[in-house]
Amino acid sequence: MTEITVMGGGALGLLLAAKLTTAGHAVTLWTRTKEQAVRVGQQGITIECFGQDTPLVVQVNALPAEEVPSGFSGNVLLTVKQSAITSSLLGFLTRTVSDDAAVTLFQNGTGHIEPVAAALPGRQLLAAVTTEGALRTGMSSVRHTGKGETWIGPPLVTSIGSPQSASHEETLVRVMKQAGFSVFVSNAIRERMLRKLLINAVINPLTALWRVSNGELPATPERRRVMEALFLETADVLRSHGLQGTESSELWDNVLGVCSSTADNRSSMLQDVLAGRETEINALNGAICRMAASEGKEAPWNTAVTALVKAILLPEERGE
Ligand code: PAF
Repeated sequence: MTEITVMGGGALGLLLAAKLTTAGHAVTLWTRTKEQAVRVGQQGITIECFGQDTPLVVQVNALPAEEVPSGFSGNVLLTVKQSAITSSLLGFLTRTVSDDAAVTLFQNGTGHIEPVAAALPGRQLLAAVTTEGALRTGMSSVRHTGKGETWIGPPLVTSIGSPQSASHEETLVRVMKQAGFSVFVSNAIRERMLRKLLINAVINPLTALWRVSNGELPATPERRRVMEALFLETADVLRSHGLQGTESSELWDNVLGVCSSTADNRSSMLQDVLAGRETEINALNGAICRMAASEGKEAPWNTAVTALVKAILLPEERGE
């Protein structure tokens, strides 16, 4: 039995916590609010899996962040959104996560790696890129909407090859496999993150703006034209920031492939917009705009979707 901490009670956090517990591991879920920890503690996590008629209820130990003791060692899976990685969360991690712990980052985008690494010197960092589809249906319930794949690897060159890094990585891969996930070790996780960023930068804002499922996104020639324009601009920017010389057609097929493999899924950004929550637009298309600007380039499609998505929510819903 391996001790695992999942930090973040969103769709992915609930999915991982429930499935890893079902596989026999000692999981603790750290939640932002006390209310959610109490709910999970009392009712367990209800998980609806595709292909299964009856939802499963899994008893999971949950703690609100304010009650987490310091000196935690082991495997921490950080599943909060990139926008939730604020200076206060980084301070919390510095206080609670001990030197021999490993933290695996599940966020979309790439902008969180350096700040987390700076806040956790000496701790092992791993990044995970996942295409699992999950929809949070309540404070303690989640629907597994599509089976995806997960790649895990060290996002920083300095952590490659340390013995500690190999053991944490192997443990995580093993326990996730036991929980039924398709998981692979990647020595090119940065490349995977850039590819995922490309997928998210196309699918997430457009599904959120048009309020369509991922499968409905490429359904009309008009939508496809907009998708393709956003795709070409984003791929161009990412190429100047390390995306390897993959053919555009292969990358475009990847985007369409994710739309079809997660056809019934609502993208995480559409889920946020429908729930009146702050979106990840700054970490996705906003990041593409900043990458373009750093090279003196413009990214008009990314600038436009960033502005359009930001304008959906009222300031109080954005937490400003
Ligand atoms: O952010 C998301 O929703 C997911 O990363 C993806 C792959 C677009 C599927 O919905």
